[in-house]
Amino acid sequence: MPSVVVGFAEHEVARVRAIALSGFEEARARQWPFLSDVLERLLRGVAVDDGAVIAAVLHALVKYDRLLGFAIGSEDAAARLDALLAMARAAPGERSELDARIEAIDRPATRRGVAFSFPDWLVELVEQDVGQGALEPALARMNEVAPRVARVNSLKSTREACIAALGAEGVTARPTAHAVRGMTLDGRSSAFRTQAFARGDFEVQDEASQMVSELVAPPPGSFVIDACAGAGGKTLGLAGLLGGRGRVVALDVAPSKLEELRRRARRAGASNIRAIDVDLLAPGEALKAFEGAAVRVLVDAPCTGLGAIRRNPEVRWRLVPAQVASLGEAQRRLLRAASSLVAPKGRLVYATCSFLRREGEEVFESFLTDDARFGLVTARDVLGRSRTEAIATADGRYLRTWRFGSAEPSSESAVHPDGGTTGMDGFFAGVARLVGSRPERASDLPDRASVLPRRGETPERP
Ligand SMILES: C[S@@+](CC[C@H](N)C(=O)[O-])C[C@H]1O[C@@H](n2cnc3c(N)ncnc32)[C@H](O)[C@@H]1O
Repeated sequence: MPSVVVGFAEHEVARVRAIALSGFEEARARQWPFLSDVLERLLRGVAVDDGAVIAAVLHALVKYDRLLGFAIGSEDAAARLDALLAMARAAPGERSELDARIEAIDRPATRRGVAFSFPDWLVELVEQDVGQGALEPALARMNEVAPRVARVNSLKSTREACIAALGAEGVTARPTAHAVRGMTLDGRSSAFRTQAFARGDFEVQDEASQMVSELVAPPPGSFVIDACAGAGGKTLGLAGLLGGRGRVVALDVAPSKLEELRRRARRAGASNIRAIDVDLLAPGEALKAFEGAAVRVLVDAPCTGLGAIRRNPEVRWRLVPAQVASLGEAQRRLLRAASSLVAPKGRLVYATCSFLRREGEEVFESFLTDDARFGLVTARDVLGRSRTEAIATADGRYLRTWRFGSAEPSSESAVHPDGGTTGMDGFFAGVARLVGSRPERASDLPDRASVLPRRGETPERP
């Protein structure tokens, strides 16, 4: 049976126990809102070190909600935390009574759902996607504790200078293996209360997310559109890669996220970003000036977020099966709509923070089949063989930061000395180049979602 993976030590818990339990009660009562929102309120006025432990305890209680319920048969939060601590310290064999009860569950999806603490339907969904042989490695990966990673803001500092500045303030950071501006922050250090952070020298961003911006690879001084910009994680990365020259237009349907993006852009000193609140699927005249204009268009589409589940463990309880289907349709439509913004010979980059093929390769390849004006540019072509070996599909076509089992034989521990994981979140990204004539206006595109092929069907050419 899998062991439980928690991001704290037992001796750390006593001081924060009451507050962590209250956060868990709140999250459960509110049916699993974003834990980051719960934590934001919970941690006001709490010391940094304690805050990190509270977050880790809350994450673990939420992640293992099903397993703990099965283990002790009680809803009592304090009893669950005690059970979690006992499981985390259990030596091999010490869980044997619990393991035997789990082993006795007949239905495989339920057995794994309890053992790894996921709903049955999600176990089945992951199995359909990665295959039976890769299922348990995938569930285990989803239960890891994510590292704390940041991106150095090249508009204000270099990685070396930033690591040195943090070191001088007592915070240890080391370069990430793949992203050129990434750094992993060690321990519980208060990196976000440093002068370096206040100056805007770095931003929190997972390494996989940084790699998406690197895959966009904006040419110096170019015009880039980030079509699903959200609060601007990748927009800021792109502005950094442009080095203050060129222009980034950030689009999103959620004005509050764009407000946050503007605030972050000011802090980062990125003056070449313009944020526009627009629904990409019903843009009216808002995007007219940008049609056929951008040398790079990034579509970081809304998705299940399963590749970032280590950071948002509540996703497993919040997501419902119907959302998976509707997200797939939204992804296809957003990609098609954004394609009209690409300049001749420009590139369209599609990304998701999901490791599911149905949100990655399947969406992207059906777009390529559907629109012959676009051709594939491989991740290997953009980033080079050595940079993609560990984090692209075996054929080098796509960025794929989590790869499991027999489908991708070269991906596991042979590549990654840290036990088969890059440590990154699980992202997908693919690049297409506009080789044919300029696409029609987004507003003129028919809604082709209804004629898109289902898995295994031959696609119709519109
Ligand atoms: C995965 S998130 C983007 C994350 C962001 N790129 C980052 O790096 O932080 C997807 C974004 O797509 C936006 N979105 C969803 N539907 C949209 C639409 N029809 N038009 C524009 N943006 C949309 C959502 O508001 C959300 O912010």
